[in-house]
Amino acid sequence: MATSKKPWGGRFTEPTNQLVEAFTESISFDSRLYKQDIQGSIAHSKMLAKIGVISKAEAKSIEEGLIDIQAQIDAGSFEWSTELEDVHMNIEARLTDAIGEAGKKLHTGRSRNDQVATDIRLYMRQASDDIISLLQALQYNLLESASNEVQTLLPGFTHLQVAQPISLAHHLLAWNEMLERDVERLQDCRKRINVMPLGSAALAGTSFPLDRDMTCELLEFDRPSRNSLDSVSDRDFLIEFASASSVIMMHLSRMCEEIILWASESYKFIEIGDAFCTGSSIMPQKKNPDIAEIVRGKSGRVIGNLQALLVLMKSQPLAYNRDNQEDKEPIFDTVDTVARSLQVFAAMIPSISYKRETMYQAALKGYATATDLAEYLVRLQVPFRDAHEIVGNTVHFAIEQGKPLSELSLDELQGFGSMIKDDVYDVLTLEGSVNSRSHFGGTAPVRVSEALEDAKQRLDSVQ
Ligand code: ARG
Repeated sequence: MATSKKPWGGRFTEPTNQLVEAFTESISFDSRLYKQDIQGSIAHSKMLAKIGVISKAEAKSIEEGLIDIQAQIDAGSFEWSTELEDVHMNIEARLTDAIGEAGKKLHTGRSRNDQVATDIRLYMRQASDDIISLLQALQYNLLESASNEVQTLLPGFTHLQVAQPISLAHHLLAWNEMLERDVERLQDCRKRINVMPLGSAALAGTSFPLDRDMTCELLEFDRPSRNSLDSVSDRDFLIEFASASSVIMMHLSRMCEEIILWASESYKFIEIGDAFCTGSSIMPQKKNPDIAEIVRGKSGRVIGNLQALLVLMKSQPLAYNRDNQEDKEPIFDTVDTVARSLQVFAAMIPSISYKRETMYQAALKGYATATDLAEYLVRLQVPFRDAHEIVGNTVHFAIEQGKPLSELSLDELQGFGSMIKDDVYDVLTLEGSVNSRSHFGGTAPVRVSEALEDAKQRLDSVQ
């Protein structure tokens, strides 16, 4: 006689220890897979009916029973039982309670090992699509902001030192490039997610003549998996997703860092909308860029989740091992964290106003056109290394005078290079500098406008 509700009760004479039950359960986190579990079970039962393992009437009653269970879960009236361990056994037990004998036939030719692998792939397929949409929504907002800032000049930095003037839209388009690659990475990962393990059973397949093409089509997978051992065991597709997610968070945290710097008193390049900032409980003057800081901070847990999954998978022998139950919390946390970060970050972008005059003044300050002067000299046949030296001396002199390069007189400039003529002032202005960088990929506003149009078209074409 069975000692419990457990499906393996037949083999056991003692009930499960309470500590073991609490330790091994996954229902507290895998109940999130209920829709995918039901979707997979309906496809499986339809297929069992088609191959004659169960009757059409049984398949119909299974399907109706499962739809009813889904409605109860949706409505919050379904009671999950820890004794039944996971989402798969909870649903199956309830189905059998509701429809009787037919419910007991659903698990024919299937194991929880291929069932859970199928569920998680269905879940991650949707999650990938959702995150791709969120990335694209952020791209859309960035491109909108960039449209107004093609002519806005600010210092570009290397080593966080003023380097050369750039167009603000060019800077925002650099962020867009990162996000576009993030989308591509997820699209690529999705190809390997969308392969169907169902039919692999516990590890070796089943003696029933399953029609795997049929379930594959019903569940809209690209193809059935090729090897039953591999398909119940490997979670590399989750590792890829966590890796692509880590790159997304790494990119967001870089953008956040710039936003935090730009919003600081020392830069004052931007003002973030009040609705996207918080204040201090002690310092009345404070307006803090908390969204950017929290997103930057959340990158830590997503990167941590990637580590957790890699270590979880490492050294596991074929085929399924219970270790794999530990994949769910890190991957669900990854999906939630990336989705919520993208959502709030994207919403903050249109609230940012750009302080064009401050940016312009900052670009004037750091001798950002020194390279332009060197390149001017090269065009007058001065070897680049000599030009570099001449300009170094000129900048040193200008710093002593407390003047930008463009305010040195022609006489003063000629003191460093006799070949300098008064057309030099064309390249010493910020406008002259950016306009001259007009090759493909450069920061000249004409090129940036084209790049922006191009980016908008690429985004439109995928949406
Ligand atoms: N809860 C399990 C998991 O998440 C389901 C599969 C259990 N399989 C088993 N043979 N105990 O991986």
